[in-house]
Amino acid sequence: MHTAAEERLIRPARNVFGSLRLPGDKSISHRYAMLGAFAEGVSRFSNFSTGADCASTLACMQALGAKVNKTNENAIEITGVAGRVTPALAPLDCGNSGSTMRMMSGLLAPQEGRFTLTGDASLSRRPMERIRKPLEAMGARLTLTEGHAPVTIDGAPLRPIDYTTPVPSAQVKTCILLAGLQTPGVTTVREAVRTRDHSELALRAFGARVQRGVEFVAITGGEGRALHAIDAVVPGDISSAAFFLCAAALFPGSGLVIDSLGLNPTRAALLDVLTALGANVSVLNLEEQHGELVGTVQVTAPAEGLGSTQVSGGLAAQLIDELPVLAAIGPYTSGGIRIRDARELRVKESDRIALVAKNLRAMGAEVAEFEDGLDVPGGQSLHGAAIDSGSDHRIAMAFSVAALRAEGETLIQGAESAAISFPEFFQLLDMVAER
Ligand code: S3P
Repeated sequence: MHTAAEERLIRPARNVFGSLRLPGDKSISHRYAMLGAFAEGVSRFSNFSTGADCASTLACMQALGAKVNKTNENAIEITGVAGRVTPALAPLDCGNSGSTMRMMSGLLAPQEGRFTLTGDASLSRRPMERIRKPLEAMGARLTLTEGHAPVTIDGAPLRPIDYTTPVPSAQVKTCILLAGLQTPGVTTVREAVRTRDHSELALRAFGARVQRGVEFVAITGGEGRALHAIDAVVPGDISSAAFFLCAAALFPGSGLVIDSLGLNPTRAALLDVLTALGANVSVLNLEEQHGELVGTVQVTAPAEGLGSTQVSGGLAAQLIDELPVLAAIGPYTSGGIRIRDARELRVKESDRIALVAKNLRAMGAEVAEFEDGLDVPGGQSLHGAAIDSGSDHRIAMAFSVAALRAEGETLIQGAESAAISFPEFFQLLDMVAER
């Protein structure tokens, strides 16, 4: 998909107030789409992600033989290939989506045929060695282009492995589990930090045999382990909610309610961080759907303003997608925000450490950049500026939030990138930002 570069002017707000329901979680939508397309039967998903990344996954799975039907707004029906894909004639275009490329490589490595996976300029710069290593250990044949996409896979039967991920990554873990699903025996993935566990939960929901311990997950794969279709409602995306939760935390007198939100404990660390900063966060109506926790979150800002916090160690990995917006509100806290052990931010859709620092400085803030993080001192006031989003959705949205409390207007360049995960972002921001 190619969309023309777009600029958005964000005016300061007086307050953030209202209630929202958000489109389906991007991570869960990718997994439901891949597993539904791979299973036997017809799966139905409502509140499916509206982001372009999940559309990339759906298009790839269609090219591999699954049938996808849009039944109404945000609801889809997928007829799966019952465990055997049709080799695609053309390269599979993963667009901007690292999740699509890394997870699908695991799904395809044990299949018969040759598959080529390509991506846009940003995805073609991102590291792919991290999937080649474990897949080759399983006997897969994978060719990269200097460690990057395009990825070419010559599918063949694999052998199980017991693998410890060197860098915590749910995408790499999922890649291995999807290969293990189709490999006779027990494939084990060990990780020092428990990364998001949507794959484990979704694989179980579709009928796979998954065992879990404190620091490992294992899948028993092979013939006779066909997945069956499911019906599911995708919980609202907490990484999209993060922009609104952080915005609400900035305005004493604010009030924001988000219902049907995904609150999987491996994804919800932001709520603890906002609480540590002094915000009042409550969770209501918790329920479980296919292993995923879903509930309503209510946030109000503290009258005395936000305090300070530090994100490091395992927390940095669990909060990785929320760090840009946390850093972007850092100047408005009293004691600042310190981020460490987040080197992975440099190899996301952009170098998010460099871009956060650059854009905070453009708005007049002082910030110190480290190889693996940032120090954003508190007690600063920002002014409107031209923001370079680097075509990165999370940078565009994070600085739209910072702009709400800046002096003057802020111009977000490359604002169309928000549609990668959250096409409705600007419209919803206008709904809850009082001016
Ligand atoms: C994701 C995992 C994370 C995250 C990405 C989505 C997933 O990436 O940053 O937005 O859905 O598994 P890594 O697994 O590379 O850390």
